[in-house]
Amino acid sequence: MTASHGPVGPHTTPGRKVLVTGAGGQVGLDLLQALRARGDQVFASDLAPPSGDAGLGLPWSSLDVTRATQVDALFAELRPDVVYHLAAILSATGERDPLRTYAVNQDGTLHVLEAARKFGVRQVIFTSTIAVFGPGLPPLVGDDVPLRPTTMYGVTKVAGELLGEYYSRRHGLDFRGVRFPGLLSAVLPGGGTSDYAPLMYYESLRTGGYEAFCRPDSQIPLMYMPDALRALVELSLAPRERLGRCIYNIAAFSPTAQEIADEVARVVPGARITFKPDPARQAILDSWPRALDDTCARRDWDWRPAWDLARMSDDLTPKLAALAARAGE
Ligand SMILES: NC(=O)c1ccc[n+]([C@@H]2O[C@H](COP(=O)([O-])OP(=O)(O)OC[C@H]3O[C@@H](n4cnc5c(N)ncnc54)[C@H](O)[C@@H]3O)[C@@H](O)[C@H]2O)c1
Repeated sequence: MTASHGPVGPHTTPGRKVLVTGAGGQVGLDLLQALRARGDQVFASDLAPPSGDAGLGLPWSSLDVTRATQVDALFAELRPDVVYHLAAILSATGERDPLRTYAVNQDGTLHVLEAARKFGVRQVIFTSTIAVFGPGLPPLVGDDVPLRPTTMYGVTKVAGELLGEYYSRRHGLDFRGVRFPGLLSAVLPGGGTSDYAPLMYYESLRTGGYEAFCRPDSQIPLMYMPDALRALVELSLAPRERLGRCIYNIAAFSPTAQEIADEVARVVPGARITFKPDPARQAILDSWPRALDDTCARRDWDWRPAWDLARMSDDLTPKLAALAARAGE
């Protein structure tokens, strides 16, 4: 998140001690700034701290969530009130190394929950995904549609949701999470199957065009990062008694790949976008929801998206243009 997005959320409960795992990724670096802007005392962790200015001047710890002893030691040292558990390997990367994906996403989440229990963490926020769903979905996918994922990423995220609900029921841990759509922001994406969407903008700006790895009629839910960050903060601050569940679908917009290409042609005149479906990634896309029903999030914690495709394009394009220009230097 850039400074122009400003603080998020209407609530004021400053001074929470917050630890973020996987903080060096696409969501993490923006989330750190959003949390700091609202007055939280923020501690970042990832496999390795980013170099130089990328660390935002925050305290960073090296943390591999697959190592329970490391997780315990950091939680014992920091004693955070709230943990945002982002560390994960995403869908496309995950299919290249499913066992590592299992270790990071499933064992890592168990280690975080167990350390939270042992060291008195009040709340754990989990970032789940539309990848928890599988083939045979209705046109609008609600929270309680059966979870039949086809990727190791999806399998481990379902397990993470269920583990968190277990710790909530058994140990009284305040576990909450959202199922993110594919996210777009002003950084290069981290190996997800929704990457074709941000890459249409970025590669068109950088090289004048992009060959998308999907069919033009592919359609999955997408969201602009400022909405995703606001969801993470607002869900965390919502009164527990209003929440009827631990994990919530959240939705913003669901364009087809062709509609994104048309939108890119509007904001990057002359962009040449073509389609050459990659069978593996297309199969994953075809197994995901076309649109999410986020009625429960709207009802329980007043979730509303603020960004649609056109508004996002106008805001994101100059930021991605600057990124593409830096890449060309
Ligand atoms: N970006 C999206 O479109 C999207 C969509 C749905 C859900 N999510 C979820 O949001 C969260 C953040 O995703 P992101 O886009 O920032 O991903 P990312 O790949 O950009 O970042 C993930 C971070 O986790 C770290 N990591 C990997 N293995 C680790 C380990 N063993 N120990 C500690 N850290 C480790 C990586 O170094 C990386 O910085 C993830 O849980 C992801 O599943 C993201």
